[in-house]
Amino acid sequence: MTEPTSLSRRDFGAAAAAAAALAAAPVAAQPLRRAGPEWYRAIQEHHRQLFDLMGRAMDGAGGRPMTLVPLIRRINMVNAAHAIAEEVSIYPMIDILGMRGRSQSLYREQQMAKVMGTRMLVEAQQGDPGLRDTMRQLSDALRAHVREEEDQTYPDLIRRASPAQNRMISELYSETFRRASA
Ligand SMILES: [Fe+2]
Repeated sequence: MTEPTSLSRRDFGAAAAAAAALAAAPVAAQPLRRAGPEWYRAIQEHHRQLFDLMGRAMDGAGGRPMTLVPLIRRINMVNAAHAIAEEVSIYPMIDILGMRGRSQSLYREQQMAKVMGTRMLVEAQQGDPGLRDTMRQLSDALRAHVREEEDQTYPDLIRRASPAQNRMISELYSETFRRASA
């Protein structure tokens, strides 16, 4: 097993740019707005919550560090519960149903998002002026990641999974998210 390498700002910038390019590319599948199985609707709601919290944090990024710290901790907790639930219930099925390359890039993007989230917390605690840049990078990376999921990979997963498999994914996602949020 190889040692995980440290992820620098440049890694994040490159990953965000690559994800943004992918998100800007023409998409074969259209997002299933307010439709689809229970797991897909739950994930859309959790993505929306994350964007809402990130927007609030960015609005307050010029404010006092102490007011930002609890908000950033909340962002990281919601993001962790959501990411763990996807990594348990969704990404393995993407792999099993023949889309291994996509699951690998989604795992890697979430790994980077967790590092960026902790970097935000450290920078907020230290009053580091780099915080605003880190927030912008995480926000851009999240937006591209979510587009990749909601507009491309998840509609494909819904179609490839049988009704019973979609039900299993819904149960696994909601139980894992609930336990990880407790
Ligand atoms: Fe997600």
